[in-house]
Amino acid sequence: MPTTTHDVIIIGSGAAGLTAAINLAQDRKVLVLAKGALDGGSTNWAQGGIAAVLDAGDSFEAHVEDTMVAGAGLNDRATVEFVVSEAPAAIERLAKLGVPFNAGEDFGDRWHLTREGGHSHRRIVHVDDATGHAVQVALLKAARANPNITLIDDLIAIDLITSRHGERYSGDGHVWGVYAFNKKTKHVDALLGKATILCTGGAGRTYLFSTAPRGATGDGIAMAWRAGCRVSNMEMNQFHPTCLYNLEVKNFLITEAVRGEGGHLKLPPGVPGGGERFMPRFDPREELAPRDVVARAIDHEIKRLGLDYVHLDISHKPPEFVRQHFPTIYARLLDLDIDITKEPIPVVPAQHYTCGGVVIDLDGRTDLPGLYAAGEVTESGLHGANRLASNSLLECFVFGEAAAKHIRRHWDELPAPPPIRPWDESRVTNSDEEVIVQHNWKEIRRFMWDYVGIVRTTKRLERAQHRVALLAQEVDDYYGNFRVTPDLIELRNLLEVARLVVRSALHRKESRGLHYTLDYPDMLEKAVDTVLTP
Ligand code: FAD
Ligand code: SIN
Repeated sequence: MPTTTHDVIIIGSGAAGLTAAINLAQDRKVLVLAKGALDGGSTNWAQGGIAAVLDAGDSFEAHVEDTMVAGAGLNDRATVEFVVSEAPAAIERLAKLGVPFNAGEDFGDRWHLTREGGHSHRRIVHVDDATGHAVQVALLKAARANPNITLIDDLIAIDLITSRHGERYSGDGHVWGVYAFNKKTKHVDALLGKATILCTGGAGRTYLFSTAPRGATGDGIAMAWRAGCRVSNMEMNQFHPTCLYNLEVKNFLITEAVRGEGGHLKLPPGVPGGGERFMPRFDPREELAPRDVVARAIDHEIKRLGLDYVHLDISHKPPEFVRQHFPTIYARLLDLDIDITKEPIPVVPAQHYTCGGVVIDLDGRTDLPGLYAAGEVTESGLHGANRLASNSLLECFVFGEAAAKHIRRHWDELPAPPPIRPWDESRVTNSDEEVIVQHNWKEIRRFMWDYVGIVRTTKRLERAQHRVALLAQEVDDYYGNFRVTPDLIELRNLLEVARLVVRSALHRKESRGLHYTLDYPDMLEKAVDTVLTP
């Protein structure tokens, strides 16, 4: 088994991982790994932008308040204040790295600030409607140019190396790196470091319909849980209201900024009220209510009228305005024969963001010594019961930086990794059984969509719990007997995450933010995190 030792191991090359790497590389040697392509995470797909207080009429207090209101009070105020106050500096760092944020449209405005649901001010900096791609490109360019950073793609982390894997058991749970399956050599490598940062993104692919890319299988959450970390608020899965409805293109997001710039949600023609806006019936903030409210309203209308989708219409705005603000969406939809300057877009809600995750503190520290985490894999206290639009990339930049700074400050106190036991590669692959992996993968995503979606009931959650238990038995047997493959690694993690989501959802006896259950429709007075301990 190839074993390599580095100063710090970062699992994930999205916004969180690369931010941490660039800071650490000032005086440490860093290995960054990605399970597929280096730009294969959600970061590359982010559209709307990054929230920060950058306008004289805006205030930190207002951004904090908007975040707390969207999060239905489940947020940790100290975390929210920390992230909001760090936001302008994070944007400056990105601008310095060359992210070409759109310039202001009025004289004297440095950047154009767009608006999204739940924000009381315009405060979203963006690069057209493809902000994430611009950020990913700039961060990768800076990382590639830095001799202290080694970037490796196609290396899929399987499990964290803890003191349990040491040749001598120390029992303190210290994390020394990770075992990772090398897709090129088909062997398992041991990657050792004094510190490890989990930046593996979310778990959107636990659901049948998700805007997240193929690799969002919750690997980091599952690995941290198996190693002994607490996870929190796993029931809080965000459904974005407006994913394109198309039978072939299943996960194309239509950014919230379309509503922010005046887009309307309407019922399609041919039903009572066809062609009319429906959001005014649901919330005084109309199309700009927080995502949970808008997604539930769409779900309600779709079920009430037996629709496949609703319409998102921005065709009342001048064509040049639409093309200029949303060039990526305009071009992509024109390819699908939809001209958004002339006609509405068919949309449905889809899973979009994992609000829960690995519990961290303000320095990005997890429960285990040597293990840090940043970005969508975490539950930092920022999002509470529902993430405010464009606060996610921001969280990656702030916590990627915070974790790196903490490691650098405490470098001399971190012990070096001990000798560790090799990975057992004696198991064989049975190709007949690999079909089962595919079937189980589909089954999990289907029942999570059907039973643990936008509107829940205890009965449906219990049904999902039963399915998870059956599949877990099957996958554990399979995992114990056969050589690991990327699909099997992901299936095991998807199932672990599904189990945590269902368990947390059953635990919460109220409706709050993204967790809405017909059996407990009211919100309890006191907001309490759902914290699970291994
Ligand atoms: P990611 O960018 O998802 O990166 C995860 C990394 O971990 C990848 O490199 C992946 O290869 C690696 N990885 C995962 N598992 C393993 C493993 N087992 N082994 C090795 N490597 C692994 N947020 C905003 O704030 N504004 C927006 O406008 C916005 N738009 C969005 C649009 C879309 C379509 C989507 C899906 C999300 C959007 N979000 C937005 C959310 C935001 O993009 C993500 O939350 C954020 O990019 C997550 O960054 P990250 O660094 O935590 O993880
Ligand atoms: C979007 O552009 O609508 C996504 C923004 C986000 O997820 O924060």
